Amino acid sequence: MKIFKFLFIAFLAVSFSGFSQTPTDFLSAAFHKSRRDALRAKMPANSVAVVFANSIRNRANDVDYVFHQDPNFYYLTGYREPNGVLVMFSENQTDADGNIYNEILYVQKRDARAEQWNGKRLGVEGAINVLGFSKAMNAEEFVNTTIDFKKFDRIFIEKFNDDYRNSSRNAAEVYDLVVAFKEKSAYNPNNFLSPVKKQVYELVKSTPIENSANVAQVIGRALAYDPSLKNDKDLMQYKEATDAQLKKDLQQKISLKLEAKTNIDQSFLSTNLATLREVKTAEELKLLTKAVRISAIGQVEVMKAMKPHMSETELQGIHEFVYKKYGAEYEGYPSIVGAGNNGCILHYIENNKTAVGNDLVLMDLGAEYRGYTADVTRTIPANGKFTEAQKAIYDIVYKAQEAGIAAYVIGESMAKPNQIARKVVNKGLLKLGIIKSIDEKHPYFPHGTSHHIGLDVHDPGNYGNFEENMVVTMEPGIYIPNGSNCDKKWWGIGIRIEDDILVTKNGPVNLSEEAPRTVQEIEQMMAKKSVLDNFVLPDLDK
Ligand code: GLY
Ligand code: MN
Ligand code: MN
Repeated sequence: MKIFKFLFIAFLAVSFSGFSQTPTDFLSAAFHKSRRDALRAKMPANSVAVVFANSIRNRANDVDYVFHQDPNFYYLTGYREPNGVLVMFSENQTDADGNIYNEILYVQKRDARAEQWNGKRLGVEGAINVLGFSKAMNAEEFVNTTIDFKKFDRIFIEKFNDDYRNSSRNAAEVYDLVVAFKEKSAYNPNNFLSPVKKQVYELVKSTPIENSANVAQVIGRALAYDPSLKNDKDLMQYKEATDAQLKKDLQQKISLKLEAKTNIDQSFLSTNLATLREVKTAEELKLLTKAVRISAIGQVEVMKAMKPHMSETELQGIHEFVYKKYGAEYEGYPSIVGAGNNGCILHYIENNKTAVGNDLVLMDLGAEYRGYTADVTRTIPANGKFTEAQKAIYDIVYKAQEAGIAAYVIGESMAKPNQIARKVVNKGLLKLGIIKSIDEKHPYFPHGTSHHIGLDVHDPGNYGNFEENMVVTMEPGIYIPNGSNCDKKWWGIGIRIEDDILVTKNGPVNLSEEAPRTVQEIEQMMAKKSVLDNFVLPDLDK
C-alpha cells in the first residue's frame, strides 16, 4: 500500500512539474556576466554605464503591445521584464555598510496584485538567485538613488528615444527611471551633436585644407539629412570659403565644437556593444542555429503545403505554426509573404492577398528562439513549377548568392559579397536584355546583401572584415515591379534568396541549408505531400 501511495505522490509531482514547465535553455547567467565583464574591461577609469530596459508600449485602451526586451539590456543582464535599469561601474564601489560591488541591477518590485494580473516577476531575489547579480534593488530605489553621477569622468548611456509611456500606474517605470537619471546626471540634450553634425565636424577636422573642396561637397549632401547644419555659420562659411587661411581658421573653430561639453557619452555603449555582439559565443550560436533551422524547416513545410488557392495570411500562419511548434516565442520581425508584384515590395507586411494564384511567392520570415532571430527567404512558384521567365531570373539570384557566399571568409571585407552579387546580377540582367549596359544604374536590386543577425534581425556590428563566429545573411534579390522599363514578360517577378551564413575557420557554413534553394530542389520539395493536404475547416460563408 505504502509503495502505491509513494507512486501516486511521485506521479502527482511529475504531472505538476510537467504542467508548470517553462523553457530552461535561455542564455546562462554566466554568459550575461561574461558580457558585462567584457564591456567593463573596455570602460575607462572612473566611468559608469547606465543601460535601461525597454518600456511597455500601449496598443489601445488597457491593452499593451507584447513586451520585448531591449537587446543590449538583455545581452548584459538576461532580465526579460520591463522597467529595469543596469548600472555598471568601472571600479569597485563601497556602500555605507562596507559592502563592495561593481554593478547594480534595478528590477520591478514584487507585487502580488500586479503579478496576479500580468504574470510573475523575478524581483530582487530572482535577480540575485536566477540572474546571478550580487547586488540588485527595486527600481523605485533608482528613482531616489544616491549614486553621485556627477563624480564620474564619463557616463555611458544609449541615445534616449524618448518614447516611454508614463502610465502613472507604476512610479518606477522606464519613464520615471529616465527622468530620475536625467535629473541626477544633469543631462542636457543641447550638449550633444547630432550624428550627422558630428560626422561632418570630424571630416572637417581630419581633412587637410588642400582637399577641402571634397568636404564642401559632403556638407552639401549632409544638409539634406540635417537641415539644422544651415544654422552653423562657421560651417556654412567653411563650405563657401576659397581663402586658405580663412579655411584654416574655420577648421580650427569647427574642430573645437567636437570637444565634449558633458561627461555623458552616447556613443561608447553602442560602439562597444556592437563589437561584442557581432561575434557570437558558443552559447549564442546554439540558440541562433536553432532559430535558423526552425525557420528553414518552416520554409520546407510551406513548400509542401502551398496551393494557389491559399492566401498570403494563411501561408504566413503555416510558417509561424512551425515556429511555435518548436517553442520559438516570437517572429524576429514582421513576416513577409508576398505573391507576384507584392514580392517586389521589400518590406511588404500586409500579407493580405486572398489567393496567391499561379505567381511566385516571396517569403521572408525568421523565428525568434530564446531571443535570437533568424532571417531566411525563399521564393517559390505557388503551383509548384517555375515558368521559363521566373526560372531565368531565379537562376541569376541563385548564382549571385552562391558567388557571394564563397566570400564569407575570415579576413575578407564584409562589403565583398554585395559587390560580387551585384556583378553577377548585372551580367545576368544584361544577358536577358533587362538592362542595356553592364554598369547601368537600375532599380532592380535596391538593397545590400549582408547584415549580422543575433538578438536583432539587423544585429549591430562594425562591418569591417569577417571574423570567426559571425553570422551574417547573404540575400541578393531581383525585383521587377509591374510597369518596369523592360519587356512585360518580366513584370511582377520579385525574387530574394536569403540564407544565414556562419563564418568559420573552415569557410562559410550555411545554417539555413535545410530549406531547398535550387529550382530543381524546390520543385521536388513542392511535389511532396503535406500533412495539411487534407486539413479542411468549416466554410463560414456557406
Ligand atoms: N527581413 C529583413 C531583411 O531581410 O533584412
Ligand atoms: Mn535580411
Ligand atoms: Mn529577410
